[in-house]
Formats: sequence, C-alpha cells, structure tokens
Amino acid sequence: MDLTTDLAGIKLRNPTMLAAGILGISSSLLNRIYEAGAGCVITKSIGPVPRPGYSNPCIVEVPGGYLNAMGLPNPGIEIFLEELNELNQMKIPTVVSIFADNETKFANIARIVEEKGALGIELNISCPHAEVASIGQNPIITKRVVEAVKHAVSIPIFVKLTPNVTDIVEIAVAAEKAGADGLTAINTVRSMALDIYSKTPILSNKYGGLSGPAIKPIAIRCIYDIYESVKIPLIGVGGILSWQDAIEFFLAGASAVQIGTGIRYRGLSIFQEICKGIQEYLKNEKYSSLSEIIGVAHRA
Ligand code: DHB
Repeated sequence: MDLTTDLAGIKLRNPTMLAAGILGISSSLLNRIYEAGAGCVITKSIGPVPRPGYSNPCIVEVPGGYLNAMGLPNPGIEIFLEELNELNQMKIPTVVSIFADNETKFANIARIVEEKGALGIELNISCPHAEVASIGQNPIITKRVVEAVKHAVSIPIFVKLTPNVTDIVEIAVAAEKAGADGLTAINTVRSMALDIYSKTPILSNKYGGLSGPAIKPIAIRCIYDIYESVKIPLIGVGGILSWQDAIEFFLAGASAVQIGTGIRYRGLSIFQEICKGIQEYLKNEKYSSLSEIIGVAHRA
C-alpha cells in the first residue's frame, strides 16, 4: 500500500522521519538513515554561532530510555551549510532544526537555510534545559518567534513543542495562530538522575531531557489533546519502537512520526519495519490509505 504522505505541502515517500538531534548533522550519517528507509531526515538543531556543548557526562541510560543534556552543540549556521549542500547533492529530503535566543536570529537562520535548499524548518523552542528553553513555555514569545520566521520564509515551518508546561494546547494554538504549518510533539521531558555514591546529579548539566519508551504515553496524550484544538498537521514523536507505537500516534491524530531513541533499541532497520507493519495493519483492518486512520481515536 502506498504510504506517501503530504505534510504541509512536503511530499514524503512514507510518514517516518528521523527525529532531530539523535544523529547529528553529518551528511554521510543522514544519508545512511535515508537509505535505511526514513521518509526524510531532520538535523540536530543549528544555531547562529558555534557551540561546544556541555562537558561529559551528557547522557545516561535509565529504565525506559535515556536522559541527555548535550547543550545544543553545533558548528553554527555558516559551517553547517557545507553539510546542507552535500545533503542537497545527495538528494536527501532534509528538514533543518534551528534554535536561537530571539526572533531576529531565528528568522535570519531560517532565511539562510531556505535559500540553501532545506525542504522545511523545525523550530526548536523546546530544549528542556538550555537558556533558550523558555521560548516554548510562553505562548506570547512562541507567537513572536513563529511570526518572525513565517514572515522570513515560504517553506513549511514545524514548531517542536515541549511537554514541560502546564497546558501544551495553549502553546500549540499560539503557534498555529502565528502561522506554523505543522507541530511536532513532544520534545524530551525535563528530568534528573543522581549517583547515589557521589550523591550528585549524574549529568554535568544536572538536568536533562528524557527520551524513549517511558515518554510515549505522555506524547500520545499531548498529540490527542492538541489534535482537538488545531487544524494544522501534527508530527508525533516520543518513544516509538514499533509499528504498533506508530499506529497509536496516527489514531491520536499524528499525520507522521519521528523516530529517535528507537534507533538505539532497534537499529536502522526500524524505519522499514515500521513502514511494513503500518501497511499490513491498514490492509488487515480494511483501510485503503493511512489518512483514514488519522485521529480515529477521537470518534470513540
Ligand atoms: C538537547 C537535548 C535534548 O534532549 C533536547 O530535547 C534538545 C536539545 C541538547 O542538549 O542539545
């Protein structure tokens, strides 16, 4: 069955995407993900200037997932353009994740990546611990950033939302009103792990973001709630390891899914396995297209 997906005007060969952050920005690595079957790839977030990130330890395994605080390490927009150029030459559909500390810088980076051939932009306003984390926790600042980027570019803008708020729907609605073309939910869950012998937080940054199967029910709840209040397409992310997990996100209201930590558990074949499972499920449940199951849980 055909799984091609139209996401706010972006045509994908299937609804699986590499989640931002998980495998960096190198064109050769992102190419491997695309070859392995992902519908498109999303880069690690790119900022205005180079950032070294935090010192180690910056990742720790916990039951149900991983806690990380990398510190948004990236080479800065100028150097990144070399990779984007290669990704374009290899014809890898690439959505560039970007971050900045104000709307002018967000718009500047967005303009540059559009000009250099990005398919779309994902706004990371939701890192669970960096200084820029607070943007996505405030509907007014979210609106300001999304409006500025919308004004600057014409490629689709996806806004990645944080679960670390009282009401994620309020932020989702603010982003939609400001012109977002789609919403990605959720970013990692702010969390902490302690070493019981040193009696201190394990991560150098103390706080990190939890990813993996432990956060899937939180992500499903967020997609379910957001779906009831916005019209733009949703991209579900958080703890997807199997095709069954992906189906759950579609039923909740997602039009596509992102896979990150799942690669650690299932390897690169996860993209093909999920696509195959979705196709068989649709056939067995007597649907003729993926779009027929999006949001079906709301009719119950
Ligand atoms: C970073 C970590 C995250 O878990 C996240 O969701 C975004 C950014 C980071 O530290 O780079």
